[in-house]
Amino acid sequence: MHVLRRRGWALKENLVTPEAVALNRRAFIAGGAALMSLPAMAAENADALHPYPANASFSAGPGRAITPEADSSSYNNFYEFGTSKYIQKKAQALPVRPWMLTIDGMVEKKIEIGIDDLIKAMQPREERIYRFRCVEAWSMVVPWSGFPLRALLDFAKPLGSARFVRFETFMMPSVAPEQAIPLYPWPYVEGLTMAEAAHDLAFMVTGVYGKALPKQFGAPLRLAVPWKYGFKSIKSIRRISFVAERPVGMWEALQPKEYGFFANVNPKVSHPRWSQADEKVLGESQRIPTQLFNGYADEVGGLYAGLEKETLWR
Ligand code: MTE
Repeated sequence: MHVLRRRGWALKENLVTPEAVALNRRAFIAGGAALMSLPAMAAENADALHPYPANASFSAGPGRAITPEADSSSYNNFYEFGTSKYIQKKAQALPVRPWMLTIDGMVEKKIEIGIDDLIKAMQPREERIYRFRCVEAWSMVVPWSGFPLRALLDFAKPLGSARFVRFETFMMPSVAPEQAIPLYPWPYVEGLTMAEAAHDLAFMVTGVYGKALPKQFGAPLRLAVPWKYGFKSIKSIRRISFVAERPVGMWEALQPKEYGFFANVNPKVSHPRWSQADEKVLGESQRIPTQLFNGYADEVGGLYAGLEKETLWR
């Protein structure tokens, strides 16, 4: 049984409503017919059947609810499969095994490794309940499974001269229809500074809701950097490179005035076309105030000392 290591940034149990409770509440509101279909024991038994860790926070009380899987897995941004949010079906065309990851650039030795061998080599593997804030002002709370990005840095052995990590998504126009159209500068690319990548919160995701990551969420390997707008959390990563120059992300290449490198969440800095002051919570009717660094300011604020001249919020 996975034991949750408590850290300052971990969502406190009493701040998280377990998904089953949230779903039961919704079912109850909807008339109660489905109320009996989600007993707590069934969820535990299901956890025992797969290799992804369970999390004690699932037995939590009231507060920010874990977003019901039905909501978060049917409202996605994955532009390779279409510009709407409803790409769940189309994304099933993505072949996620075999899946080779290339680690190259400023490293001691280039690595080509299959995703399952990589997952086996990564420690600790754990589950983390993170807030997620899209630049489009919607948000969710998701129980990701995976391993700290820092574990991958240790494995990759970057040279001391590397300054940034560059992530690149697959390029498969035959299965991802939008990649066949040169409207966007494919492949999807994102980047972090080495200090950001080594931060405890930077997480590589291989599962969600206690299961292997569904394709629409970015299987088999995606990033989760919860203090940044969601577009930084690149999906279906095929290549990780250590570089000297700041990587230019796909959105930055397309619209540099709207999407930049740091993209840290800040309710006081509007997107050029809309306010970032609050956010719509997926699966809920109310909007809630957005927090600086998406609520992780105590943990990550220190990363940006001395970078006052940078545009940290776009
Ligand atoms: N990664 C790739 N490869 N392609 C994308 O279109 N969209 C980004 C990010 N990662 C995107 C991506 C954006 S804009 C957001 S908000 C999140 O994925 C959405 O993640 P979700 O669908 O799991 O909620």
